[in-house]
Amino acid sequence: MAGDIDRGMRMDREELRESFESLRRREFGRLDRLGQVYLDYTGSGLYAESQIEAHTRLLADHVLGNPHSVNPASMAATELVEEARARILSFFQADPEEYVVVFTSNASGALKLVGEAFPFRKGSLFTLLQDNHNSVNGIRSYADRRGARTVYLPLSPELRLSREVPIPPAVQEASLFAFPAQSNFSGVKHPLELVVEAQNLGYEVFLDAAAFVPTNPLDLSEVSPDYVAVSFYKMFGFPTGVGALLARKEAIRRLRRPWFAGGTVEYVSVQNRIHQFRVDAEAFEDGTLNFLSIAAVTPGLEFLAEVGMDRVRERVRQLTEVLLDSLRGLCHSDGSPLVEIYGPGDTTDRGGTVAFNLRGADGKIFPYANVEGAASVEGLSLRGGCFCNPGAGETAFDLPATEALRCFKAMPQGSFSLDELAQCIPEEVPVGALRASLGIVSTEEDLRRMTDFLGRYRDQSVPG
Ligand SMILES: Cc1ncc(COP(=O)(O)O)c(C=O)c1O
Repeated sequence: MAGDIDRGMRMDREELRESFESLRRREFGRLDRLGQVYLDYTGSGLYAESQIEAHTRLLADHVLGNPHSVNPASMAATELVEEARARILSFFQADPEEYVVVFTSNASGALKLVGEAFPFRKGSLFTLLQDNHNSVNGIRSYADRRGARTVYLPLSPELRLSREVPIPPAVQEASLFAFPAQSNFSGVKHPLELVVEAQNLGYEVFLDAAAFVPTNPLDLSEVSPDYVAVSFYKMFGFPTGVGALLARKEAIRRLRRPWFAGGTVEYVSVQNRIHQFRVDAEAFEDGTLNFLSIAAVTPGLEFLAEVGMDRVRERVRQLTEVLLDSLRGLCHSDGSPLVEIYGPGDTTDRGGTVAFNLRGADGKIFPYANVEGAASVEGLSLRGGCFCNPGAGETAFDLPATEALRCFKAMPQGSFSLDELAQCIPEEVPVGALRASLGIVSTEEDLRRMTDFLGRYRDQSVPG
């Protein structure tokens, strides 16, 4: 679905460039003032100055107290929280009759809420792509504990879902299917059609949209996953500490929470040892909401809506094309490529997150951490490691499972590091990569500075 729209829209390159560069000057002037090249948008988005000004004004002009009481300060806060809830639904075109918004501290919090309350049982399945963030992988611990079976679907060498292994039908109710709308490792946009496909096979579907929504429109009137997780700092930088679970009412009512907390219950009787949960979102929001930060979500969404998510997606697509071409163009004098890209080599069904390693003139891989460190000295923010996505890394690096197991087992708790792992694994296999991820105000100049930096490794060999 996303791919069709991608292919259908080719906005004018010059018009987009001018408009996003002007946005950068207006709202993100600090990047150029400080000479920074920020290429870690999948790690975190950046906030526009106007968001901060709007939030500061809001705090200065209101008296805001703990929500859900009838005093004026409380009511003012409740109003802002409910406004944010409604804006989130409208931003994602989710029907308020169908979906609710549960505030969480981040996408991981949303995933955990569902994982711990999902009624897995013997015979049910937790089926997920090998390409998932650890906050999705972690749900398998809940599935294991309740006797459900976890099934990983393998990836193709291009790090897309390999269709060689079919999705197993859920023969038992209470089976969950999870996948990322966009990989935080490879940038692959997994087809949103998987939502309906898995639902038709008897699953409830959790769409991890954390890495997708910062640069793509998500329309929940077109596709209706049972659960969706997002982190707002990834979308618009500020506030941190606020995410959301968007859940279909029908689905959230099937969840069984393992505990209750202040705010989630209609009543609790200590002498009778009984309690009754509130309904829908309220049953899932433990304790006092982060209400001052939640108030900053509405201006953040307004900002993105004003810029236009279709435009952001197209601008990022165009820049990703430039980035992939430039990386491919970096070669040693003997013509061998300097950059090994993990994932698709063009922008078809892929977003602006590009994982890669540098291969020296001697054919060996430069340790990613050394390159990341050298980039930092130049004011370049890249990210190195495996990005909390071990499954994509294992496929990308062709990590031999038995070797990896031997090495993991050899590292007592407290001693693990990717560096240690690299020492243990056969020399030619990398254990991490570099990641450049593009966002709303990335520019051609950012990319040029990055490729100039990488170009310095031309004809270099990996030091002894
Ligand atoms: C695809 C994906 N899912 C989940 C997460 C977890 O997000 P958070 O750390 O905000 O909970 C991330 C974070 O990078 C991500 O990229």
